[in-house]
Amino acid sequence: MLTKYVRGVNHWLKDRLNHSVSGVNRWLEDRIELSTLITFIQTQLTKPVPKHVNWLFSFGTITLLFFASQFLTGLLLMTYYKSSAESAYDSVKFVMEQVRFGWLIRQSHAYGANFMIAFLYLHAVRVFFYGGYKKPREITWLIGFLLLGVTLGFGFTGYLLPWDQLSYWATTVGTEVAGSAPVIGKYILLTLRGGENVTGMTLTRFFAVHVIVLPWLFVFLVSLHLVLIRYKGISTLDSTKGPEKSVEDLKQEGGKSFFPNHVMKELLVALLVFTGMLIFIVYAPLPLHEKADPFNTPVGVKPEWYFLPMYQVLKYFPKLVGIIGTGLVILGLFLLPFLDRSPERHPARRPVATTLGILFVCVAVILTILGALAETDRTMFGTRYHFDTKGVPHGIAESDSAAAPPTSTPPEKDMKKE
Ligand code: HEM
Repeated sequence: MLTKYVRGVNHWLKDRLNHSVSGVNRWLEDRIELSTLITFIQTQLTKPVPKHVNWLFSFGTITLLFFASQFLTGLLLMTYYKSSAESAYDSVKFVMEQVRFGWLIRQSHAYGANFMIAFLYLHAVRVFFYGGYKKPREITWLIGFLLLGVTLGFGFTGYLLPWDQLSYWATTVGTEVAGSAPVIGKYILLTLRGGENVTGMTLTRFFAVHVIVLPWLFVFLVSLHLVLIRYKGISTLDSTKGPEKSVEDLKQEGGKSFFPNHVMKELLVALLVFTGMLIFIVYAPLPLHEKADPFNTPVGVKPEWYFLPMYQVLKYFPKLVGIIGTGLVILGLFLLPFLDRSPERHPARRPVATTLGILFVCVAVILTILGALAETDRTMFGTRYHFDTKGVPHGIAESDSAAAPPTSTPPEKDMKKE
């Protein structure tokens, strides 16, 4: 009796629901031709991707997901953050120690920045080796490169916001580098700092750029980037001399539809990456160092890892040569689609570009490692070494490093002793 009654109610509810859904559908159809939009979305989702597309092609989406996560956690952090030199540090400390799950939000935002940049670098490297920047995707590359600039801008401006020793001095060093550019260097430095030194004025500027200018720029550029990708599709590995493959060609070659095949692959990678980040957050949380002190310069100040190759290279050449050289390499990478005229996309069919690419990545990794080692003391294979500013090791007696802690202790360790 009861089952019959429940079934009846169920039936009635379903009937009502269907009726009102189709009513809403009809109402919307009359006004905004909903079915046209749905057909468009369906066509986009079921478009096949080329057969060679594998999980390496998920790095772009992972970067995008990190942006979404940064947006959300950043918004939550803003509800407590105070952007003045007097209270910025205390407001971050408060979030970390007093606000429920505040530590998780701040750690997700701080780690998220590092993960986002790491996946962005990987994405650009992936695009390079698969020749994805070649005709007709030159504009996609140019916009991607601007996105890289905006994302590094997020990292640079965001790093100062906690106003602790490390962030204060890293910003001092970073703005100094920008300030040593020829001719306009001085103006860049003054504009960035809002004066001769890093002060509360710098913090206010960085905050405004971080939470207003860059997010809008990012959304604008990423929308263009994604529209172009959807419009042109992911590139095949064929030469650019022939015509672009049609949807039918791709299907015939065994290309699977974007949704659900590729999307599922991307979601799986995303799950692994975000779980990885959570493990880092729990087992190796990023510290908040001592409050910024403009009168106490710590030893071995350096920028974040993602700027280290550029920073380290300046140590091996005279300043001007280093800055102009780095600038030219960056410009060359930006204009890559116009400099690399070979029509081949397959990495095996363009050995020179592939070799240069591998060399470039190796040099960047080596410079990052040298930069990380520079001005630290480490024990390796039972011997204690002091790494000088160029990252060259010098053997030292155990007693030496213990006797002179302020100059030989790595700054990271030095600052963790709060
Ligand atoms: C935050 C920044 C970025 C986001 C969210 C993003 C997102 C994406 C996505 C989702 C794709 C399609 C799937 C894939 O290839 O991974 C893609 C493709 C592409 N991206 Fe990005 N990207 C970003 C930055 C960059 C950068 C820095 C570059 C290069 C300098 C770049 C150049 C390209 C190119 C040329 C393609 C087309 C590749 C092909 O068709 O094979 N993107 N991007």
